[in-house]
Amino acid sequence: MAFDLTIKFAGEGGEGVISAGDFTMRAATYLGLEVVTFKSFPAEIKGGYALSQVRMSDEKILSQGDGFQILFAFNGEAYEVNKPLLKPGTVLVWDGPEGGDFEPEFDWLEKQGVIAYAVPMSKLAREEVGAYITKNMVALGAASELFNIPIDVYKEQIVSKFSKKGQDVVELNFRALDAGINWVKNNIKKVDPYRLPERMPRKDVIILEGNEAIALGAAVAGCKVFAAYPITPATTVGNYLSEIILKANGYVYQAEDEISSMAIVIGASFSGVKAMTATSGPGISLMQELIGLASMAEIPAVIVDVQRGGPSTGMPTKHDQADLYAAAIGGHGDGQRIVIAPTNVEENFYLTIEAFNLAERYQCPVLFLTDASLSLRAEAIPTPNIKEIQSKLINRPLITKDMNVDPNEILRYKVTETGIAPMLAPGVSPKPYAATGLEHGEDSSPRTSPDVRTRMMEKRFRKLKNIEDENQHLLEWDLGDLQEGEKADISVIAWGLTASITKEAIQRLRKKGYKIAALYPKLLYPVPAKAIEKIASMSDITLVPEANYTGQFARFIRMYTNVKPVQFNIYRGEPFIPAEIEAKIEELVGNKVKVNA
Ligand code: COA
Repeated sequence: MAFDLTIKFAGEGGEGVISAGDFTMRAATYLGLEVVTFKSFPAEIKGGYALSQVRMSDEKILSQGDGFQILFAFNGEAYEVNKPLLKPGTVLVWDGPEGGDFEPEFDWLEKQGVIAYAVPMSKLAREEVGAYITKNMVALGAASELFNIPIDVYKEQIVSKFSKKGQDVVELNFRALDAGINWVKNNIKKVDPYRLPERMPRKDVIILEGNEAIALGAAVAGCKVFAAYPITPATTVGNYLSEIILKANGYVYQAEDEISSMAIVIGASFSGVKAMTATSGPGISLMQELIGLASMAEIPAVIVDVQRGGPSTGMPTKHDQADLYAAAIGGHGDGQRIVIAPTNVEENFYLTIEAFNLAERYQCPVLFLTDASLSLRAEAIPTPNIKEIQSKLINRPLITKDMNVDPNEILRYKVTETGIAPMLAPGVSPKPYAATGLEHGEDSSPRTSPDVRTRMMEKRFRKLKNIEDENQHLLEWDLGDLQEGEKADISVIAWGLTASITKEAIQRLRKKGYKIAALYPKLLYPVPAKAIEKIASMSDITLVPEANYTGQFARFIRMYTNVKPVQFNIYRGEPFIPAEIEAKIEELVGNKVKVNA
């Protein structure tokens, strides 16, 4: 039986539950465990309900899981919100018996079979340590003693995170850890079975958060210009990049708005360098006109959209998968765009590199749809082989002066069989060209004749005609032990973070004997119609779970294929949990809903 434990810290924004979760994640990784974190907090800097959850296992973890075994409730709100999730055997560590703002209903807890330990986190922080802000470290001291979490890693984290605040802050936090440890030693009799294992052989992994993985991917892909306007939850992509690409002759620019950011990316890419921006929903809305320019002028550009709850300001820190329409078809006119989406932190890294490869190859904007939950999620991923990745990077076909090409023969927008023509860059190429948003002829001069318009429109669309066939690696098939020609009970198509959650649900169902065919497309647009029709043909029911109201990918499927999927939508600002998808599949298979028969 695999070790699989989830510890949740919940309290008020400003009480340090995020740091408590991060420190615990590091401790688990130090022990050699796999980790997946889930964090959620309000848009306010202080106040409101915040949580940080760490799932750890000695086996590969696919999702944040269904719930938790251990809850640290820092205040009454955290207790109330999580009360419905307290199951028999769950451990509740609460801020009491004195100094906190609540007391749990002991009779109810007992009846439920919940194990409750009182640790006066607030009181010890205030009275014994003398600093309320160290409440989270009192909790971690208690956690270390109760659940065998290595205290040395907590101490290292205190030094690494708080040294910049002064040695006295570090010392206070050490004292807070001790206060938590001593309280448990002197007051609590452990009756739960949860203990982290002893240290296992170290794995060759690096710990990355979602946005950090995007930044690293961009740097490895050779991104030299990053321009963005700060917006939650995308801002940290630029923060991380500024630490990396400045050292590699790169350039990070905080623009005055998203329109300007996108214009900078287009300008930089026109000049011959790889360029990227990162934003969230409202920023994508503002960039639409410029994304159209990148399509029309055939300029490679990578646009990261860290989706959040919309429309408008919506829910800036919350999960949503509802920018697919905006990413794929949000602009006016018929433009070429590629939309891809990662399903976990590791793919945030590898697919960012892929986004640059696609942009360079097809000379168009590539929209990278990640999301708020994934932006903050931490995973330990196998250390990438940077040299090997870089040896396979795709770079645009550029005509340079040393190629001795007759300038009179060069046509930037030459009509070719693939639609793709060699590119030019100022100073590097033997000839300049005008990259314009106006319709143009092969030589780039503005033209509006019906003949030119028709030929150029067809040329641009030809570039993406075979994108599905040319990028099979962007389609992840998961057929389990289905034999050739064997019918599945159900087919499932899932994208983005929902795909990794779906995978866990499907693993559980296969153990129960269900036959399931699944497709996790990373390429969302142009819609991979052949793969979708194939997976749907393997069963009588096709399910598409998505964290949006309208079922945006399911509707694209209806638009571009003959498949009529069953939609399963949530829109509550939180991702699915595997149990929901598991239950939905069981319900559909049980009812034998034959939708696309
Ligand atoms: N000793 C000293 N300092 C401590 C500490 C301790 N024991 N524990 C935490 N802190 C500090 C942290 O270092 C952090 O300060 P920093 O930002 O200077 O590093 C601060 O206290 C908050 O602690 P942290 O653990 O990071 O978060 P939290 O659980 O208290 O939650 C947030 C705070 C994350 C919810 C909040 O700050 C936030 O960012 N909200 C979202 C804002 C946003 O993006 N809005 C959208 C606008 S559109």
